[in-house]
Amino acid sequence: MRKKIVAGNWKMNKTFSEAETLITEIADALDEVTLTNAEVVLCPPALYIEMAMDVAFESNFTVGAQNIYPEDSGAFTGEISPLMLKELNVAYCIIGHSERRKYFNETHQFLMKKVDALLKHGIRPIFCCGEILSEREANQHFKVVNDQLVESLFHLTTEAFRNVVIAYEPVWAIGTGVTASKEQAQEMHAYIRGLVAKKYDAKTADETTILYGGSCNGKNAGELFAQPDVDGGLIGGASLKTDEFMQIVSAL
Ligand code: PGA
Repeated sequence: MRKKIVAGNWKMNKTFSEAETLITEIADALDEVTLTNAEVVLCPPALYIEMAMDVAFESNFTVGAQNIYPEDSGAFTGEISPLMLKELNVAYCIIGHSERRKYFNETHQFLMKKVDALLKHGIRPIFCCGEILSEREANQHFKVVNDQLVESLFHLTTEAFRNVVIAYEPVWAIGTGVTASKEQAQEMHAYIRGLVAKKYDAKTADETTILYGGSCNGKNAGELFAQPDVDGGLIGGASLKTDEFMQIVSAL
């Protein structure tokens, strides 16, 4: 049975003291929740990972990172390696987020290297894919997502691929307050699962966790997560408020 996940992508938000408060609040709230075959992942800025790990040690969530550079070490000023994350026991890392594709010009090939670098160290990529608005309007959204998966993920062996979580995030829905409808989400998630089945096999596809991301909140999470191919969410803005985030977690 595939695992359900709600992952909070904090992006570049919160000072250290604010982050400590938020993470403690979420940890306390999670103490009251029973998660069955489901996981909560918090992805704070890298600077706060160690603090988050300390809290996670006695709580009900897992810690993820937002980015890595695909080398173990070296002259890459300002970057963080998967080897560094591994020693801190970081379980997940977001890869291919549309903000990194757009502002940092990350290409399919570079993302492929990042995926490989993470898997080499046993860190599970949360691989983001999704179209921009003009691509959807031109009815290119399936092709765009297909290409993103083919170019950056489908070189993996079946065994390696089984460690990947996919997040479908239509770019027009990220941070805009415009959520994909449950039908749009389900349609794309089913399409992605079909691609995985074709490339690998039905069992692998069935066990792949596919998250929805893009203006997911406490109100719409229930109907989105109720779709047969939506296995949870990658949450930006709403992951920065304990009550709202917990509403989303309770929709799992
Ligand atoms: P949002 O962001 O929930 O604020 O739309 C989602 C994401 O970028 O992962």
